[in-house]
Amino acid sequence: MDKATIICKCEEITYEEIEEVIGHGAEAFDDIKRLTRCGMGPCQSKVCSHLVSQVIHEVTGKPFDEIPVPRTRMPISPIKIETLATNSTEFSTVKSVLDELKLEDGRVK
Ligand code: FES
Repeated sequence: MDKATIICKCEEITYEEIEEVIGHGAEAFDDIKRLTRCGMGPCQSKVCSHLVSQVIHEVTGKPFDEIPVPRTRMPISPIKIETLATNSTEFSTVKSVLDELKLEDGRVK
């Protein structure tokens, strides 16, 4: 890849910027995220995480199975803010793993 290639389109992080932080010791996507904001855009790294793994592989020579996967946090898919604000047990119409949860007193059964 060219050094000017945009890896994270949301935060406009280039290959060169990622290469630089790897040179300073970043070894995983989460390290790169903290140092550059890569992956903190609206898509929450759905577009750039695999590209960052590619850059780590190219720069360090690490096999893909040795590159740690990014940490994921809830909610995994979008839910309505109303659901969070009202402590609703009915989740949004967006299909997600949250649709499978059963709540009792605001806790997962
Ligand atoms: S492309 Fe990186 S956060 Fe969206």
